[in-house]
Amino acid sequence: MTSSRVEAPARWQQCANCGNRLDELDPRTSCPECGGLLDVMFHTPPGRGAELRREFSARPRLTGQPFEVSGVWRYAELVMSAPPSAIVSFPEGNTPLLMNERVAQWTGCEGLRIKHEGMNPTGSFKDRGMTVGVTQAKRVRARAVVCASTGNTSASLAAYAALGGLPALVLVPAGQVAIGKLMQTMAYGARTLAVRGDFDACLSLVRDAAQRLGVYLLNSVNPFRIEGQKTIVFELLQQLDWKAPDWIALPAGNLGNTAAFGKALDEACRLGLIDRVPRLLAVQAAGASPFHQSYLTGFQERRTTRADTIATAIRIGDPASYDRGVRAIRLTNGVVVAVPDAAILEGQQCAGTAGIGCEPASAASLAGVRAAVDSGLIHRDDSVVAVLTGHLLKDPAGGGDPGAEKSLTMPTEIDASLGEIERELSRLTSGR
Ligand code: F0G
Repeated sequence: MTSSRVEAPARWQQCANCGNRLDELDPRTSCPECGGLLDVMFHTPPGRGAELRREFSARPRLTGQPFEVSGVWRYAELVMSAPPSAIVSFPEGNTPLLMNERVAQWTGCEGLRIKHEGMNPTGSFKDRGMTVGVTQAKRVRARAVVCASTGNTSASLAAYAALGGLPALVLVPAGQVAIGKLMQTMAYGARTLAVRGDFDACLSLVRDAAQRLGVYLLNSVNPFRIEGQKTIVFELLQQLDWKAPDWIALPAGNLGNTAAFGKALDEACRLGLIDRVPRLLAVQAAGASPFHQSYLTGFQERRTTRADTIATAIRIGDPASYDRGVRAIRLTNGVVVAVPDAAILEGQQCAGTAGIGCEPASAASLAGVRAAVDSGLIHRDDSVVAVLTGHLLKDPAGGGDPGAEKSLTMPTEIDASLGEIERELSRLTSGR
């Protein structure tokens, strides 16, 4: 063991369905025996929490240093044991944990904290999974990388693939992706195909392509993406001095992130980083809520739906990480709620006017907390962290595709005169 790094445990991939084991460097992203999804596994010896907490705190995270440590690779022992020279990183993570009275009041939860993942290099939490996923793509010597996306995964993949020098192919549902995300994806140089179909159709197509054409699949079905996304939880726990909150709220679409949060909390508890598991509040948009509908059956039935919501990032009707999502909710005694688009837009607007800009899907977390406080599930004085997953600039029109309902107020047009400015200023300061 060196003084600067706790020894990294050996890793392998394992099918969650049938237990089949694959080598860590096997490029397949589903089980060759039964088609189930894979998990990255490592032994989590109990009692290492104190040692790891000391180690993580010792790693620099100050801004203004020439080389900031990535908020993903700070937790390398719990993510991936790759040599530093192999890592493709901007860096990412190190996102703020905010308190804001106005947003807290809107949700009804007094001590609400907001983990703003929109502050990542490409403006969403996907960067945390992608630094690990693209590093793994290089480790397995992929000739190209591919994903299906509602926009954020594609923007992130495009940026990290460009950084790592790998060709990237992305499939998006035609006409259903917010303009900021589409422009980003193309500006980072990914070959972008708009499929006449929904996200679920795109995902099934890329899973086929990955199997038959030998390109490396980087949707969150890829277990290495999950390993990176776990660090949202590790980082927020560290920011809370390793005192577990009562609840962590997050938007849920394809359920990769829900799975990552469940895995992170399980590992954090086993290692003794925290002494109790917070409950997950997975929040779906009412028009795209197959997971919520399944939850209402006690997960006895797996529901799918034709998804429709202004929160285009989570417009998903058949979540690929369903089984992993169920596991995460069960493990954390979690709850799945669904919120209407109007509540999502109101949450987005409230956060925005408090200076915290997030895209609609992110605001689902806030609307979910508010609904859970209203129903008495969350108490006003519970400690709650709501995760905002994407930046406001991703979806400035607040509704994804043109023609969707808009939450934006348009500018007031004036003549070029000081008098008009004076009039507007007095309106503004008198609150009219
Ligand atoms: N929030 C944002 C901003 C997202 O972009 C996504 C997913 C989610 C939440 C939900 O996460 O799918 O892991 O449950 N976006 C994917 C994409 C589907 O293609 O960018 P999830």
